[in-house]
Amino acid sequence: MPATLEQSFMKAVFHGVIAEDMIFPFPETPKEERENVVLMLDSVRRFFAAHVDSAKIDREHEIPPSVLAGLKELGLFGLQIGSEHGGIGLSTHSYLRVMQEGASRDSSIAVTLGAHQSIGLKALLLFGTSELKQRYLPALATGEKVVVFYASANRDETVFSDPDTFDIGRSPNEHVAFGGGGVHFCLGANLARVEIRALFTEVLSRLHDMELAGPVERLRSNFINGPRHMPVRFRAH
Ligand code: HEM
Repeated sequence: MPATLEQSFMKAVFHGVIAEDMIFPFPETPKEERENVVLMLDSVRRFFAAHVDSAKIDREHEIPPSVLAGLKELGLFGLQIGSEHGGIGLSTHSYLRVMQEGASRDSSIAVTLGAHQSIGLKALLLFGTSELKQRYLPALATGEKVVVFYASANRDETVFSDPDTFDIGRSPNEHVAFGGGGVHFCLGANLARVEIRALFTEVLSRLHDMELAGPVERLRSNFINGPRHMPVRFRAH
């Protein structure tokens, strides 16, 4: 019996059943695609060895434009987009194999390519109308356009009356620093609140005249957002 969307192999395992009909015959990648992937892996390895200095990317928080241009040239921004829209048209399995190769060499590059192609353009690829696909996929496949989600989050002017002011005294304060609710809401939110309260209680009880003493330099990173340098001054008590 073919598997339905509601069936789950892992759920069945928890009931002591190996649902063989869901996993066999194991899907085979067509020979032509396998050969294509071997060639791609070889180009990816050679490109990374010759052009990617991972330590420098970490140090400077920036992927050099020449590296991005090279990644685009290799087709790495359009791995799963079909050839009719200018992409390489890999299956999910082959896409993951190529991404695995890149991720094993530089995680910042992997996140850049991964975000663009997974949470970024995947919905368009799976559910977009042919008109939307025609309009957007070609430029996304070449990397001429890169998908980002630039949600206003804690600066949402429909939620906060003064969205660009950092005001911890807001009440109510419907911020989304721990997520926007739902099943993935931060599991450590309460612990984090206790830790932050303990930290600020101690710092402020000792340094109550602390003030900004120079420009704040922000961190540039794929993973973390925040100040990199924030000079402050205070009087010794
Ligand atoms: C100020 C500190 C912290 C901030 C700003 C923060 C923020 C977040 C955010 C934004 C998410 C994603 C929420 C979503 O997808 O809707 C998250 C998830 C998560 N956080 Fe935190 N977090 C903090 C501290 C912690 C701590 C201390 C722990 C553990 C002790 C923790 C454990 C987790 C876990 C396990 C998840 C994943 C939950 C899931 O996907 O089901 N976090 N956090």
